[in-house]
Amino acid sequence: MALFKRLVEQDRPVLAFTLDGQSASGLQGDTLLTAVLTCAEYVRGSDFRAEPRAGFCMMGACQDCWVRLGDGRRVRACSTLLEAGQNISREPGRSI
Ligand code: FES
Repeated sequence: MALFKRLVEQDRPVLAFTLDGQSASGLQGDTLLTAVLTCAEYVRGSDFRAEPRAGFCMMGACQDCWVRLGDGRRVRACSTLLEAGQNISREPGRSI
């Protein structure tokens, strides 16, 4: 189940990536947040409460969208562009 549904711009090139080890795909020009939420319900688990998170500010300010890349970097999903072949891991947080 996905949180986001694409309504427009669906003709961009498809980029394959993995999300928590599972095959997934997004479109060229997607942020990681868009790519993750068009194929999943959440982007990370909350560090403080028993709930999944899907970002908040969407502009790189709140730190509510951290994901981990395969090279170990922790990046803000809302302000990082998807690249083909990326391995994205969601942090489970306290409850997920
Ligand atoms: S949603 Fe706020 S920093 Fe990404």
